[in-house]
This record gives sequence, structure tokens and C-alpha cells, in this order.
Amino acid sequence: MSAKRLAVLSLLLWCVSVAGLAVLFVRGRTLPVAADGRTAIQLTVGERDFVLGEMRGLLAAEQGVAQALADGDRAALIQAARGAGMAGVGAVPAALMLKLPLDFKRAGMAMHAGFDDLASAAATGDGWADLRGRFAAHLGHCVACHQAWRLQATP
Ligand code: HEC
Repeated sequence: MSAKRLAVLSLLLWCVSVAGLAVLFVRGRTLPVAADGRTAIQLTVGERDFVLGEMRGLLAAEQGVAQALADGDRAALIQAARGAGMAGVGAVPAALMLKLPLDFKRAGMAMHAGFDDLASAAATGDGWADLRGRFAAHLGHCVACHQAWRLQATP
């Protein structure tokens, strides 16, 4: 094969793999909608454990926010919300990122950004009633995603 042909062939192969990765990035690795109405994302046991560990951290963050609201402690509220904001994202392994569908990733980003919005609102002096409302609305991110997706571990 001539060098030119080889170059064209490798370019084609490169395009196919980039396109494949792009499709995976958007679709993720999912099964058809399950009987409970949710879409299952297929992960390894380790990846599932990783996501669930993150989730337990999120629950702790929401509890921290709720406690701060109950105590009227603005600094604690900012700290709890900021800790679960966008700054903490990025440590997700690439292989896992590819298996998560785009809609799931978007929902996750919106939820993290919502924590930052809550922290900023508290930092710029929003009233307690408004902050309670923001907290209640923020929980809607958790609820909506849990209604749509589940995780299925594959060996
Ligand atoms: C982008 C989607 C998404 C968002 C947003 C989300 N979760 Fe989850 N969460 C999931 C999925 C999927 C599971 C696994 C459910 C299953 O497999 O049945 C899960 C599981 C959990 C679990 C169980 C952990 C365990 O150890 O079993 C907790 C707790 C949790 N989430 C808390 C939260 C809280 C609190 C929020 C909001 C701050 C939140 N999640 C936001 C998708 C999400």
C-alpha cells in the first residue's frame, strides 16, 4: 500500500473512532427502560460504587445545608453548599464519563451548579426565606434524576 493510501486509511480509522467515542459520550452505556420506568446505566461494580459514594456525599451536603438553615448559620450554609459545587467535579474517571449518557451528565452538572448558586445567594445576603426556597428547589435536582435513572453493575 502506498504511503498516501495508508495515510487516508488511518485518517478514516481515526474519524470512525472519534465518531464512536462521540456517540458513546452522548448515549452512554444503557439498557432499555426497565419495568420501574427508569433507564439503567451499565457500570462495573467499582464504577457503581464510585457513583454511589459520590451520592452519599451529596446527601451529607444537603443535610449540612438543612442543618445550617435550621441554625441560621450563614457561614456553615456557604461551606456545605460550596463543598458540593462545581469545584469538586472533574475527578470522574474518563471511562466512567463515557458510560454516563449526556442527559445524566447534564443533570449532574446542573445539580452541582445549583449548590454553587445556593452558596452565592447566601454569600450575597439573600434572606432566610429565599434560601429555604432555594434549598427546597435544589432537592428537585436529586428527585428528578433518581426518577429517571438507575445503575446496574455488570461483572
Ligand atoms: C445525575 C443524576 C443524579 C443526581 C442529580 C443525583 N443522583 Fe443520587 N443517585 C443517582 C442514581 C442513578 C442512583 C442509583 C439509583 C439506583 O441504582 O437505584 C443514585 C443513588 C443515590 C443514593 C444512594 C447511595 C447508596 O449508597 O446506595 C443517595 C443517598 C443519593 N443518590 C443522593 C443524592 C442526592 C442527595 C442528590 C442531590 C443533591 C442526588 N443524589 C442527585 C443519580 C443522581
